[in-house]
Amino acid sequence: MKVVSIVGARPQLVKLAPIAAAFAGGDSRHVIVHTGQHYDADLSDVFFTGLGIPDPDVHLGVGSGSHGEQTGRILAALDPVLATERPDWVLVYGDTNSTLAGTLSAVKQHLPVAHLEAGLRSFNRRMPEEHNRVLTDHAADLLLAPTAEAMRHLAAEGLAARSTLVGDVMVDVCLRVRDAVLAGEHARPALPEGIDPDQPYLLATLHRAENTDDPARLAALVEALVDLPVPVALLAHPRLLARAEEQGLKLARGALHVGRPLPYAGMVAAVLGSVGVVTDSGGLQKEAYLLGRPCTTLRTETEWVETLADDWNRLVPDPGSLGADWVTTATRPAPDAPQGTPYGDGKAAVRVVETLRERRA
Ligand code: UD1
Repeated sequence: MKVVSIVGARPQLVKLAPIAAAFAGGDSRHVIVHTGQHYDADLSDVFFTGLGIPDPDVHLGVGSGSHGEQTGRILAALDPVLATERPDWVLVYGDTNSTLAGTLSAVKQHLPVAHLEAGLRSFNRRMPEEHNRVLTDHAADLLLAPTAEAMRHLAAEGLAARSTLVGDVMVDVCLRVRDAVLAGEHARPALPEGIDPDQPYLLATLHRAENTDDPARLAALVEALVDLPVPVALLAHPRLLARAEEQGLKLARGALHVGRPLPYAGMVAAVLGSVGVVTDSGGLQKEAYLLGRPCTTLRTETEWVETLADDWNRLVPDPGSLGADWVTTATRPAPDAPQGTPYGDGKAAVRVVETLRERRA
């Protein structure tokens, strides 16, 4: 069996790691195509080296642009690659512009498409990720769902026959790396200057277009972080830095300490070292849950609704509207109730490879 994985953005590289490991040593040929959507070393290279992913076989180098430009460039660059490779499956990941472009290029060439992390929904049609995941699910031939909730969404859209529950590959990689971090196999993470890793701190990220691209909204979110009584380690995505600079908004002040994005093991260690997480990232909400840290999510909704159980994760779209309750929310302790296992048993990637083999045309 020949499978082409199409990846391009940081969270896709994390999901690729357990998939590449599950293919390694087997008799399948696994071809990795990197679109180049993310090109900074902090967002791309460190994931290949840190997670032991083989180098991409093909690098399209498309870079940034408007949604149309970026998606179109990936689509045009992929056509000849897939025409040459003609794999048994094209495997696309998550909900980025790379996911949608990979799907379109493949279906137009009558190549079977499998969508990893199918069935997630925010029901917020203003999010670029929501368009990408809905369109991908409806075009793909095989929908690899991470949760029972995702399976329900797919069934509600008439896609049950193409769907199968495999679990979440993020659990595979998160728990493996957690064990290595706890065993002392990784150096301490490079936290922002001013953060003492031995004192309580909150870990924060902010990168979604709906939070960064509206100047009033970004300013309000930054003010809320600046005012917290606990130091906040903000690992800044380049998009956040670019928007803050454009808007003349100073980030590093008050409680807020700004640093670079971390490699995956550093991120896991930083979550474990923190007293809680404040974020708008889907992956980090789940990592906080898996690693047992309370999470405050700066959004109106989450695709990972399971994390909301027992207050492990709390949605706060507008911290300013909470008044003094914002501080007690962001600094609340971890709940007593143990987390469930809605994301599976950490063996999802092996199940993905088996399913691809079984369902091969
Ligand atoms: C993309 C995904 C988002 C995912 C996120 C993870 C889409 C629509 N969005 O958002 O779902 O959660 O990746 O990080 O696909 N930039 C750099 N260096 C890079 C990459 C980006 O400086 O290596 C800057 C550029 O200014 C660029 C901006 O970040 O314009 C946004 O990058 P883009 O790839 O469009 O989307 P993300 O915000 O990273």
